[in-house]
Amino acid sequence: MNSFLILLACAIVSFRAAPVLAQTEVETKKLLERLSGTKVPFDDARLEKMKAQTAAGNWQGAAEIATSDPNFLNVTIKQMAQKMSTRDESIAAGLNDFVTFFMGVVRDDMDARKLLTGDFFYMADVSKLPADITVRADLQTDFVQNNNHYSDLDRVALDIGAILKKESGQMLLQTSTNTIVYNPDPAGLLTTRTFINAHAIAGTNRRPVEFTFREFMCLGIDEWSDTTVSDARIGRDIDRFPGGDHTKFQVSCKGCHTGMDGFRGAFAKWNLIDGRPVQFDAMNEANYSGFSDGIAAKMNGNGTVFFNGFVTKDSSWVNNARGPANESLLGWRGMADGGFGVKSFGEAVSNSSRFSQCLVKRAFEAVCRHELVIKDRKGYVQEQVTRFESNKYNLKKLFQSVALSKECAQ
Ligand code: HEC
Repeated sequence: MNSFLILLACAIVSFRAAPVLAQTEVETKKLLERLSGTKVPFDDARLEKMKAQTAAGNWQGAAEIATSDPNFLNVTIKQMAQKMSTRDESIAAGLNDFVTFFMGVVRDDMDARKLLTGDFFYMADVSKLPADITVRADLQTDFVQNNNHYSDLDRVALDIGAILKKESGQMLLQTSTNTIVYNPDPAGLLTTRTFINAHAIAGTNRRPVEFTFREFMCLGIDEWSDTTVSDARIGRDIDRFPGGDHTKFQVSCKGCHTGMDGFRGAFAKWNLIDGRPVQFDAMNEANYSGFSDGIAAKMNGNGTVFFNGFVTKDSSWVNNARGPANESLLGWRGMADGGFGVKSFGEAVSNSSRFSQCLVKRAFEAVCRHELVIKDRKGYVQEQVTRFESNKYNLKKLFQSVALSKECAQ
């Protein structure tokens, strides 16, 4: 009897010390934590408001409260974009023009296809900064030429998502006049300083294509390689007889290079020179350093390896990722056979169904914190894609929808 009373007393004490939350309370708290990317205490004021929504059966309303938490942009979206912005895909990148572009598109409820086609960028509205904080903000010397503006802005104390201001027209430095000019080939994130810096540095401008697919189609280069399609676009620098063996070219090199080299013409007028993106047409010079006949010299480097290979003479690209296997994998829609420049490439990619599927995967992994393999979860992914596209590619709603799905908790 005595021991029973002691047990009972212990139970009461422990109940007082740590109240057991009802299932919906736990779920509501998790919803807020998932979307804000931050742990919250159970007495957080917003939970009361969210609970009022869920009690009325309105889980969507509760998710909307969660995405209005500043940390939805400042932690969840920021960290996801940071990983997509550099070659090593780590969050060490810090704030930059790629990350703020992403945050802005989400905050302003824009069509997510603008991520690859938009002609704008986001900077801090300096009038919204606290008086004791100064941020270098000269468009030419702190933004176009380097990352000063964003490095100064990248402080935990600032609600960056609220301070950002959309500016229309992407900018580049024209070296002959030492002035900034409009980018004639603006393609959202693909033509940010950060993306060009990460992938058009040295090399042969194949990596910008590789990483467009990697980040926005969620496909590594080997996952969309195809040895069955034409090799007519493969550059002169690619050996057709590696180690004296043409079969090796046919079964290996060709698979990756046919798709990649077909698209790479989109970046033919782009280069990274002295740490800044350069687009030849913006330079207004007949023969700008690093370019010959208006095309980045590296597009036609090592031209003696295979003389009959493709020579790049303009910024045209062709879509060789339309073989039987890739056609269903990528789901091209609209104008996707070919075009000129990065913007038309961005349009083709962002209208594909794979782009929408990839954003579902990115949103899922950012909020649910476990992997989503698209090919293993086709039904779920398609359900989210359909909703996302009928919501006009609204990313905030996509994150809400994914966070509310029962798959997120599994
Ligand atoms: C799995 C995909 C894949 C296969 C297979 C492949 N490549 Fe590549 N290749 C790439 C990628 C991606 C790049 C761009 C790398 C970069 O710039 O970072 C590249 C770049 C190159 C370059 C340019 C290197 C430079 O920067 O100067 C050459 C030359 C090349 N590949 C030759 C070959 C040959 C020859 C084969 C077959 C033996 C081959 N590749 C097979 C993906 C592939």
